[in-house]
Amino acid sequence: MIILGIETSCDETACAILKKDNDRIQILSNVVASSASLQAKYGGIIPEQAAREQIKATIPVIQEAIENCKLKIENLDAISVTYGPGLIGSLLVGVETAKTLAIVWKKPLIPVNHLTGHFYANWILVPSSTNLVPQFPCLSLLVSGGHTDLVLFTDHGQYKYLGGTRDDAAGECFDKCARLLRLPYPGGPEISKLARKGDALRFKLPIPMKGSKDLDFSYSGLKTAVSGLVNQLTGELDKQKPNSPIHQLTNQQKADLAAAIEQTIIQSLVDKVILALKTYPVKDVMIAGGVAANQKLASELKLKIKNLKLKINLHIPSANLCTDNGAMIASAAFFINKKIDPLVLQADPNLSL
Ligand code: KG4
Ligand code: ZN
Repeated sequence: MIILGIETSCDETACAILKKDNDRIQILSNVVASSASLQAKYGGIIPEQAAREQIKATIPVIQEAIENCKLKIENLDAISVTYGPGLIGSLLVGVETAKTLAIVWKKPLIPVNHLTGHFYANWILVPSSTNLVPQFPCLSLLVSGGHTDLVLFTDHGQYKYLGGTRDDAAGECFDKCARLLRLPYPGGPEISKLARKGDALRFKLPIPMKGSKDLDFSYSGLKTAVSGLVNQLTGELDKQKPNSPIHQLTNQQKADLAAAIEQTIIQSLVDKVILALKTYPVKDVMIAGGVAANQKLASELKLKIKNLKLKINLHIPSANLCTDNGAMIASAAFFINKKIDPLVLQADPNLSL
């Protein structure tokens, strides 16, 4: 079975074509275009601008995905598309394109929840790996720019919500803290890169919800703490150089703060995963979403799970499949397989898991 997946929920315009033989899902082509240069210029995403860029990019990206694997349209079994949650203008570009293609090419249309899609990146075959797919029950952590959710999957499409963020998402916290350090958007990879040169112990930051017995998260307090620290440090610098026109951190202060921010966010995520593992017996753990691309999160989680001495595999998609892409949407569609009449599908920006 071959499925084409379209993803335009935020600022990326992505299309991938995947093939499923028995349990093996492989990527035939995967194209992602992002308006990264515009985000860097404006320090984030401007929704109308993102949608305008996506209108220009969507057909060339789909065309490139088809050409890359030399696919004939008649060999395509279905079209899948993200229909929510996300930015309404961006979602509309993908949804309306997919509806049109489904009608013109006479293909079934499968709508996919973006959040579910992130998890299904874990079912995609990585050519060099042992290729184990997640086993149920599977404790699953979604850490993206807009979501931080912990759920227990008992089967495809069956899950229990265990907890989530009460305010900002983990990725959002990375992005907001990066802004305070005057680093470009998206902030997660920038903080992570800078953190390698820093000392995580120099500045003490509060670990969000440390010691709480529930499985919720919170990151707005951490951002406020970083903001206070930056003000304090730049104020100190100002006193030393009273005529300095710009309040600036030194490179070392920035690196040390980046290391402390990364360490603090990771510790709060790992603590809750371990707490959940002590509460719910599971076979596997999977993480997904942009923050799952963080190497330190992967290594800390691996170590802490190993220390529990339980036979649990940790599944993490390859870094390019953690951030938004069309492959995860096509992968999810193999399992969801709920076709919809293209004329009734509507984008839903507030869709939840
Ligand atoms: O899943 P995603 O691509 O988009 C959403 O659905 O939100 O996640 C984007 C988020 C951004 O907040 C970005 O800063 C974060 O993922 N991110 C990272 C890393 N790569 C991306 N955060 C920490 N470390 C990374 N290596
Ligand atoms: Zn996403």
